[in-house]
Amino acid sequence: MTPSDIQQLSEACQKRRTFAIISHPDAGKTTLTEKLLLYSGMIHTAGMVRGRKGRKAAASDWMAMEQERGISITASAMQFTYKDTIINVLDTPGHEDFSEDTYRTLTAADCAIMVIDASKGVERQTRKLFEVCRLRKIPVLTFINKMDMPGRDPLDLMHEVENVLQIHSTPFNWPIGAGKDFCGVVDCATRECLFFSKISAGGAQKAGIARLPLEDEGVKKRLGEEQYQQLLQELELLEMAGNPFCQNDFLAGDVTPVFFASALTNFGIEPFFDAFIHLAPSPHIRFANSDKGEDVEIDPIQTPFSAYVFKLQANMDKRHRDSMAFLRICSGRFDRDLVVKHHRLGREVRLSRPHGMVAGERTTLDIAYAGDVIGVINPGVFAIGDTISLTGGFNFKPLPQFQPEIFARVQPKDVGKRKSFDKGVLQLTDEGAIQLLRPFDLSGDLIFAAVGQLQFEVMQYRLKDEYGVETLVSPLPYQCSAWLLGNKDTFKKTTTAIIVQDRFDRPMVLFSEQWEKQYAIKQNPDHQLVDILS
Ligand code: G4P
Repeated sequence: MTPSDIQQLSEACQKRRTFAIISHPDAGKTTLTEKLLLYSGMIHTAGMVRGRKGRKAAASDWMAMEQERGISITASAMQFTYKDTIINVLDTPGHEDFSEDTYRTLTAADCAIMVIDASKGVERQTRKLFEVCRLRKIPVLTFINKMDMPGRDPLDLMHEVENVLQIHSTPFNWPIGAGKDFCGVVDCATRECLFFSKISAGGAQKAGIARLPLEDEGVKKRLGEEQYQQLLQELELLEMAGNPFCQNDFLAGDVTPVFFASALTNFGIEPFFDAFIHLAPSPHIRFANSDKGEDVEIDPIQTPFSAYVFKLQANMDKRHRDSMAFLRICSGRFDRDLVVKHHRLGREVRLSRPHGMVAGERTTLDIAYAGDVIGVINPGVFAIGDTISLTGGFNFKPLPQFQPEIFARVQPKDVGKRKSFDKGVLQLTDEGAIQLLRPFDLSGDLIFAAVGQLQFEVMQYRLKDEYGVETLVSPLPYQCSAWLLGNKDTFKKTTTAIIVQDRFDRPMVLFSEQWEKQYAIKQNPDHQLVDILS
């Protein structure tokens, strides 16, 4: 590579931020995404990201089912520019039921924004997604949303983040007023007050910002003596009790910066995005296994093009009847029609007709860099986790696998459709859309397993829509599972639990209740029950 190539790659890399937004449903992830698009100038009115309650349907609603329901099922990626920074936002499903796609999408992110509803605190799904961030050491920024509504005490919320998620938190701003009196924030680093007001800019509702030093008379006047003194006290308390922020601890996933805002009213949105692009890392080194079995560092700039498949999806667009593989570029520069080495197949493939996603519209890409997500037509050569690279010789570490929580037997309604059913099921398991488990003695039917209920609904929909097979799903009475490490023959299980094997012949235990799993953990100190295989 020439010095000018390196400079070009380095500039492209520095400019990129690739992240996912994680939250429990209804915390405001969609609203925050919309505001990011709004402040980037990509859209002019909020409410366009997905077809919510009859609003304009979003271009990212690929599957008909998503449009029917107004929810975003498939994890997609969008690219746009925010103030000279190239944003790749990986969209994780916003429905109560999420899927393995949601988890896998997180592996493609360099950092995450965790949205928390100020009145609800840390909720179940947020916890599960955060676990994946912790496992992958993905830095997380915390966005406490809905400050315009009556909510919980800000200090309480910060403690909850620390206690429930076991991570240090550092407030970057502090709310002034709460509920209908939420009017601004104090920037903790500069001790500057930012007062927000509603304005209309370029046809869009945005927030105006008036900045005043905390000590300014105008602040006292505006808040009144009592509220002003209370604010000073709160800030003093924070200074005494708070953790000083260290960028390296944040990048290691040990501390989360906390921001208070209201996505709906735009209050605090722009300062948050500005801080986000400053704090969030650009694409960095990833680790792979060399063919000699050694750990190798894949540098986003120095290593020639490399990428891995984090998501597969068939028949995304009826007009094209195609199957796409989504690749996260980890290093180098991608050029259209690049011929790359496919590690698993041990042969070369040409990446023709690559697509990027700009606000949900597919666009043909000519050039892409580390941090970007490209979708390529998949003529059956790509599987989840596959590595491709220009030089070959290494394989990215396998993607984690997540314990399923929903189990069922599935049959075609019409036995004459068995062949199409088998073909469809094979495709869906290859895509990682559903998991298949077998009883150890190979007797009995296969067990279909998923992380979220919606995966079953999507499976049924797609088997009917794409393979013409109607199916019967009979739920099984298991609620959780874990991979079993240790000798399965000496594992003591409760009578209702069963041991099965996954498609890679690894033993798994299915439990009918959460307490049974906890009980089994206690009863089997020589075995390990693992929720996420990394
Ligand atoms: P999600 O993607 O995380 O599921 O949440 P979403 O953005 O769809 O927001 C869920 C609900 O919360 C929406 O109301 C949204 O308008 C509201 N919301 C989001 N941010 C804020 C905020 O800062 N303040 C207040 N007060 N509300 C907020 P909805 O009634 O369910 O939908 P809609 O009628 O607004 O579309």
